[in-house]
Amino acid sequence: MIATSKMKEPKVLKYQLKSLEKLPVKIWDASSQASIHVAHSIALAIRQKQQESENIVLGLATGSTPIMVYNELVRMHKEEGLSFHNVITFNLDEYYPMPPDARQSYVYFMNEYLFNHINIPKENIHIPDGTLSMDEIGAYCEQYEKLIDFHGGIDIQLLGIGRTGHIGFNEPGSWESSLTRLVRLDPVTRRDALKDFVKEENVPHRAVTMGIASIMKAKTIYLMAWGQHKAPVVQKAVEGVITSSIPSTFLQKHNNVKVVVDTEAAGELTRVKTPWLVGLCNWNDDLVAKAVVWLSQKVDKPILKLTDLDYNENHLSDLIVERHSAYSINIEIFNRLQRTITGWPGGKPGEDDKYRPERAMPAKKRVIIFSPHPDDDVISMGGTFQRLVEQGHEVHVAYQTSGNIAVHDHDAIRFLEFIEEFGIKEAILSEEGKEKVNKLIKKIIKKKAREKDTASTLNVKGIIRRGEARGGARFCGLTDEQIHFLDLPFYETGATRKNPVGDLDIEIIMSLIEKIKPHQIYAAGDLADPHGTHRVCLDAIFEAFEKLKSKKWMKDCWLWLYRGAWHEWQPHEIEMAVPISPQELHNKRKAIFMHQSQKDSPPFPGNDEREFWVRAEDRNRETADRYRSLGLAEYEAMEAFVRWKFE
Ligand code: F6R
Repeated sequence: MIATSKMKEPKVLKYQLKSLEKLPVKIWDASSQASIHVAHSIALAIRQKQQESENIVLGLATGSTPIMVYNELVRMHKEEGLSFHNVITFNLDEYYPMPPDARQSYVYFMNEYLFNHINIPKENIHIPDGTLSMDEIGAYCEQYEKLIDFHGGIDIQLLGIGRTGHIGFNEPGSWESSLTRLVRLDPVTRRDALKDFVKEENVPHRAVTMGIASIMKAKTIYLMAWGQHKAPVVQKAVEGVITSSIPSTFLQKHNNVKVVVDTEAAGELTRVKTPWLVGLCNWNDDLVAKAVVWLSQKVDKPILKLTDLDYNENHLSDLIVERHSAYSINIEIFNRLQRTITGWPGGKPGEDDKYRPERAMPAKKRVIIFSPHPDDDVISMGGTFQRLVEQGHEVHVAYQTSGNIAVHDHDAIRFLEFIEEFGIKEAILSEEGKEKVNKLIKKIIKKKAREKDTASTLNVKGIIRRGEARGGARFCGLTDEQIHFLDLPFYETGATRKNPVGDLDIEIIMSLIEKIKPHQIYAAGDLADPHGTHRVCLDAIFEAFEKLKSKKWMKDCWLWLYRGAWHEWQPHEIEMAVPISPQELHNKRKAIFMHQSQKDSPPFPGNDEREFWVRAEDRNRETADRYRSLGLAEYEAMEAFVRWKFE
């Protein structure tokens, strides 16, 4: 079809030069920056309406995505006098059934993150009611819809996106014309909600949600997404065909949607993942490595067997022009990958280290392995951990959080019963002590489904995890003086929702680094952690580095990032790959087994039902297999690291 000036230009034309995106996407380095940008746009709109003495209607979302936007709005209210007196809000959804005072309710969420901290008139707040009877729901939803229209429609709608592609709770199969209604939640969504409900049977099967058509009526829409786990669905929403099986694709029909993502959530967009498919590239060494690894996987040939034809037939002719021939590119990238492999993660003493990932000197290094939870050390780098100790380095492990919320009640009861019985048999428990322990056992037994743990129960659970962590670290060869429990305060809420990181958290990390003065630090660079704890723990380490960077000894401190149980670095990103022999892999498994409370089915398993040791082994074998298929040596397994370089 030929476009005439009167025809509306299909949106894809506007962006096709550099992407396949059918929606305008802005990629930010960090979700915090992106959230601040969205919050400032909202604040600007609120102030503009105030100047015109008008109200503004906001459509609000819950979940982890908008939290930093709300934090910034609250900050602007408190510090810059941003008023919300003219703001009317409609929330997208609420679980059904759901009492408003339950901790999992969206009413609770909105009060906690926004409404309790700003001057919005209570009567201006609308959140779907999760307490109505089935008979009342239909009329209520109709009324909700009418009320939005009565206030002139939504000016700015905030959206997150679910892994099913849902917006609001419009799950796959939702109609384009759908309005506010009662819906059934997708099993994937229910699994994702587990982080708030602890047990699957507690997660509601239904919700009341605004429909696709209700959302599409908004004048401006911000669709936000953070983290690698959202990357596949962001790609589908933005580049895919419009289909009710990915309801967010309907947004492609709206004329004022802004997609705001961080680098990780943008990772599957064509212009990011394979930019050579959508235009000319500025080739640097990292991009060349990415392209060559991609090509090798695509045509299923080891790197050294790739031909000019392979490059030319797969949109990489441009690279051949720039770097002369497949032969020279192949050798360059093969060598680059080859040099990442080392059995000496702490450096090989007495060897030329020009092309090695780590420095040869000092031969014996001081090392700190930071582990966000009390098991990430062995799950993520158990093989390297044991090697560092065997090769004579002074290794310390620092467990950043207590991990106390991830222990089942039945485990806590078992340990308390042990104390009770042992204490009575050995006559070392006073009457008062006996009573206390017994009371605690009864309290846990009687605990209701959604009830929070008491401080004492959390204490028991934390101690259980400490014991397991000690077991794992001792198995790897550490003495007790080398095992540090930081119990960072930000984590200690007793719930999945954590406090923001504070000065004390940073100080605790700084003081350990100052005490040890390490040559190497290992930390979890796992940004896809569904609970966000890994990310927060990493940010806290970055901040500690920032504050310590003027110290002379810090110049010798290298930071290596491993990835947690959820995903792995891509071969082109890896800067150190430590091969693991079959025996070492077996020993790694034994160290993971020390974490008994996390075996079988920990309370927060994330989206992957495999046990941690299985995930770890699958992942390490897969990394080795990727190296093999690129034409490098074949190992049983590999642990991979990326070096973080500070400016
Ligand atoms: C929440 C909502 C949902 C979430 C989506 C993403 O009100 O309607 O669509 O936006 O499930 O959730 P998070 O942000 O927790 O990843």
